[in-house]
Amino acid sequence: MGKLDGKITLVAGGAGYVGEGIVRAFLKEGATVAVSARNSSKLEELRGLLGELASDRFVPVVGEFSQIEAAEHLRDEILNKFGQLDAVVASLGGGWKGNQPLTKVSMEDWQNYLQSNLTTHFVAARTFLPVLAQQKGSSYTLLGGGAAETAIPNYSLIAIPAAGQLMLTKVAIEEMKGSGVRINEVIVHSLVATRSTAGQNQPEWITADEIGEYTAWLASDEAHMVSGSIIRLYEQSR
Ligand SMILES: NC(=O)c1ccc[n+]([C@@H]2O[C@H](COP(=O)([O-])OP(=O)(O)OC[C@H]3O[C@@H](n4cnc5c(N)ncnc54)[C@H](OP(=O)(O)O)[C@@H]3O)[C@@H](O)[C@H]2O)c1
Repeated sequence: MGKLDGKITLVAGGAGYVGEGIVRAFLKEGATVAVSARNSSKLEELRGLLGELASDRFVPVVGEFSQIEAAEHLRDEILNKFGQLDAVVASLGGGWKGNQPLTKVSMEDWQNYLQSNLTTHFVAARTFLPVLAQQKGSSYTLLGGGAAETAIPNYSLIAIPAAGQLMLTKVAIEEMKGSGVRINEVIVHSLVATRSTAGQNQPEWITADEIGEYTAWLASDEAHMVSGSIIRLYEQSR
């Protein structure tokens, strides 16, 4: 028996590097997992990576979170198909390889990162929290990075949206108190070992599959007492 048997879930950004580990863990625990990406080729690539786990409980959905209408379309597609939604994990955003001081950041990069790393979280939360609030035992989990809390030089376009995301989580927790949906943010203070870092992984890095196992537990009824929490995962020596 899986921890998530019978649960209908959405992993937003599930075709991303961390998302892959989350989708794998949710499928292993028995959930039906809708996975959104902006184009179907990434979803097909993910299907290949999942192998036999990509059963009929793996439900690829093309959609995006920069516009409210697009996210609502995605929400309606899931609700029309399954009639309910029990858990959402938002693994949205993107890495920054600019290595530039704040004073050199272009307007275009600023707007792009606010869009991909903060607006997406606003749109996803705005769209799915009201649905989850109607569902007993539901949960909404945001993935975040340590740059939300630690100022690192030349990393502004990751840090500033991440800090905004953390405040979005805190506001949503306060506003949704008593609604029944458990909202938590998992802040990963570590580089994550993913398929993109193969060959460079360090033993102390948290892996995408470990984040998946943790977030699967967080979405399960076993974690019913974890609500309104900012949870920090740090590098570990092993
Ligand atoms: N990788 C790390 O080392 C690390 C470390 C600490 C924390 N994290 C956290 O983990 C989370 C995911 O990071 P990642 O490394 O997996 O990044 P990633 O591979 O770039 O995945 C991020 C996902 O965000 C989605 N996305 C971006 N803009 C979107 C939009 N407008 N509409 C819909 N989807 C959009 C992308 O969807 P598409 O599939 O459509 O492109 C992508 O799959 C982030 O919150 C990050 O802070 C990562």
